[in-house]
Amino acid sequence: MPSQPEIRILNTPADLFQAAANEFAKLASDAVSRRGRFCVALSGGSTPKTLYALLATMPSIPWDKVCFFWGDERHVSPDSPESNYSMANEALLSKLPVHPANVFRVHAEEKDADAAARAYEQAIRTFFDLPAGELPRFDLILLGTGPEGHTASLFPGSSALEEKTRLVVANWVDKFHTFRITFTFPVLNQAACVMFLVSGADKAPIVHEVLENPRADLPAQKVRPIDGRLIWMLDRPAASALLQSRAS
Ligand code: 6PG
Repeated sequence: MPSQPEIRILNTPADLFQAAANEFAKLASDAVSRRGRFCVALSGGSTPKTLYALLATMPSIPWDKVCFFWGDERHVSPDSPESNYSMANEALLSKLPVHPANVFRVHAEEKDADAAARAYEQAIRTFFDLPAGELPRFDLILLGTGPEGHTASLFPGSSALEEKTRLVVANWVDKFHTFRITFTFPVLNQAACVMFLVSGADKAPIVHEVLENPRADLPAQKVRPIDGRLIWMLDRPAASALLQSRAS
């Protein structure tokens, strides 16, 4: 039974990113002490860049035991300014003692987006040593949401929303007239912890819709870990349209 979202409202963006970094560090430490590794799927876009830069200043995180994946990737080469891998590498990975074998980027330079998605799915199945039909359980999946309620690259009206068996698909996104490679809901909802990170007043309307309008039917609303934590980390501007006052 999915648990209720933990909604944390921080006064400023700086407080938001610090709280998210602290949560990341705690989850990493717990996972490494229990299972010897921490498997995290990073999100893209602009919001997490500040978090990644902050994480890069935290040597107490057991970085050599962290395995990095991406919840979605644009259909571009890794050196493209559009690449989620490139952003995370520049802000975080290039600054850490991370073994390249622990970094699992999407090979989105592959011209055939479906082939890139299938290859990534296979890499995940191999890493988690998954029997057929089983789902990977990430210790943490970081997500954001766009102004229309997408998350990862699961956009309203896109075919990937209905995917029930594949782990990773190439999803045609009309809004950008391009494919994106994305985790599917079964993977997101298998995670031990999903943490949305949302900052800024421009996101306030969608945050209200996602968290307070059950009839909105938005992709970000369909992220409800079956047996895991769901954390919405918001700064006060992003939370400013929430009707109920919520303790942070
Ligand atoms: C991407 C992300 C995407 C992002 C939202 C929010 O590839 O862009 O995975 O889902 O989280 O679009 O993006 P911003 O943080 O830039 O607002």
